[in-house]
Amino acid sequence: MRRNLVAGNWKMNGSAESIRGLLQGIKEGAAEVAAADLVVFPPFVYIGLVEQQLTGTSVAWGTQNLSEHASGAYTGEVAGPMLQDFHCTYVIVGHSERRTLYGESDEMVARKFAAARKVNIQPILCVGETLEERDQGVTESVVERQLKAVLDLEGIEAFNNAVIAYEPVWAIGTGRTATPQQAQDVHAFIRAKLAERNPTVAAQTRILYGGSMKAANSGELMAMADIDGGLIGGASLDAKDFLAIARSGC
Ligand code: 13P
Repeated sequence: MRRNLVAGNWKMNGSAESIRGLLQGIKEGAAEVAAADLVVFPPFVYIGLVEQQLTGTSVAWGTQNLSEHASGAYTGEVAGPMLQDFHCTYVIVGHSERRTLYGESDEMVARKFAAARKVNIQPILCVGETLEERDQGVTESVVERQLKAVLDLEGIEAFNNAVIAYEPVWAIGTGRTATPQQAQDVHAFIRAKLAERNPTVAAQTRILYGGSMKAANSGELMAMADIDGGLIGGASLDAKDFLAIARSGC
């Protein structure tokens, strides 16, 4: 049985002060959502603060990105072993904002996925199509291509300790959510692609939905057979909203 994972991607938002408040709220309500795993993804500079606030609680933390390299002359980058120092459990790789705004290719995302595994941090691999791609009817081939780059480099067994997030780009930050059926169709497709390589791994891999998920729609999304939680942007910046989403899937 797959446990729901509810993940808050804070993107480039927050301050030390607002983060203290947000974490306080999450910690106070976390006990009510014992049936789901919770994780938050602050900007890099706040990871020490988040570690300090969350150590000893049931809430995990991680970062929104990492370098494909372990160390060296890569100005501005942050490496996997550094994240290990801060006891990160998860790391997001291949978010659509990284792919589109910072030119991350499928191959680079796969190398980042490998870099996370090397330091025993679970990658959350983001995949998803743009509106143009959906309109062209190529959603499945886009998602398959993004997934294949990782499977070819790391193999299916890697997904024993990894998570996938399906985030249709047209639903991110737009207020436009995929319908539960639209999301379920892609989630089932992703699971079938994993199952072609190993049905046991496919059956236990968590696949999250992301894209304008909020308490008003999260219950019906997470009720779908292949949706195992959410990767939440905007609504994760409010402790009450984030916890309400987590509760709705229990
Ligand atoms: P929103 O929930 O703000 O649409 O963002 C989704 C997302 O990109 C999470 O990674």
